[in-house]
Amino acid sequence: MSSDVEDQKRVAGEAAAALVESGMTVGLGTGSTAAWFVKALAARKLDILGVPTSQTTAELAQSLGIRLGELGPVKDIDLTIDGADEIGPGLSLIKGGGAALLREKLVWEASKRCVVIADAAKRVAVLGKFPLPIEVVAFGHETTALRLCDALALCDLGVAPRLRMRDGAPVKTDGGNLIYDAACGRIEEPAALADALKSVTGVVDHGLFLDLADQALVGAPEGVIVLEP
Ligand code: A5P
Repeated sequence: MSSDVEDQKRVAGEAAAALVESGMTVGLGTGSTAAWFVKALAARKLDILGVPTSQTTAELAQSLGIRLGELGPVKDIDLTIDGADEIGPGLSLIKGGGAALLREKLVWEASKRCVVIADAAKRVAVLGKFPLPIEVVAFGHETTALRLCDALALCDLGVAPRLRMRDGAPVKTDGGNLIYDAACGRIEEPAALADALKSVTGVVDHGLFLDLADQALVGAPEGVIVLEP
C-alpha cells in the first residue's frame, strides 16, 4: 500500500528498475520520481550503461556507481525511464517541471522504449492544469515570449507565458536556455499546440511529450498501476 505521494513515487521507481536487464543502455530521467528509479537501479548492481537527461541526474547516478555515457556518442538506448508532471489521455504528457525537457526529449526520441513513472496525482483527464514549460533561447527572449502569446492565441489559449525565475534570477537550463511556463488550463488539442509552439523562432522545445511513452507505471494507494497508450 502506498498512500503517501513520496511512497507512490518510490514504488513506481522501483517497479521501473525491475524492467532493466544487464547489458542494456538505459535513459535516466530527471526529477524526484526518476531519482527513486536511479537509486533502485543502482541497488540492483546490473551491468548497464546509463544516459542521463540532466546534470543533476548525472551526478546522482555517478555517485551511486552507475556507468554513464552521453547521447551522441551513444546512439541507441534500449529503455528510458522518466517522470512526468501530467499524464493525460493516450499517455500524452507534460514534462519539464524540472527544466530538463530538452535533454529528456532528445533521450526519449533515441529510445526503443520509454516508460513514464509517477504518483497517482499526475493522472489527468485533460492536459494543461500544470503550466506547460517552453524552452527558449536567451537572445531576444522577451520578443519570443510575445510571439508565443500569438501562437497560444491561435490555439484559443489566451495566456501569457511567464519567465521561470528562481532566487530573483531567470532559471537556466543545462543548455543555457530559459523556460517560460504557460498556464493553459485545458489543452484540448495538444498536437496542434505542439506544432504552433515549435513554429515560433526562438523556441527550442516544449514540454508536450506526445506519442512517446510506451507505458506508464503509476504508484497508487492500491499499488503500481500499469497504463498503456
Ligand atoms: C524534469 O524536467 C521533468 O520533466 C520531470 O520529469 C517532471 O517534472 C516530474 O518530476 P517529479 O518526478 O519530481 O514530479
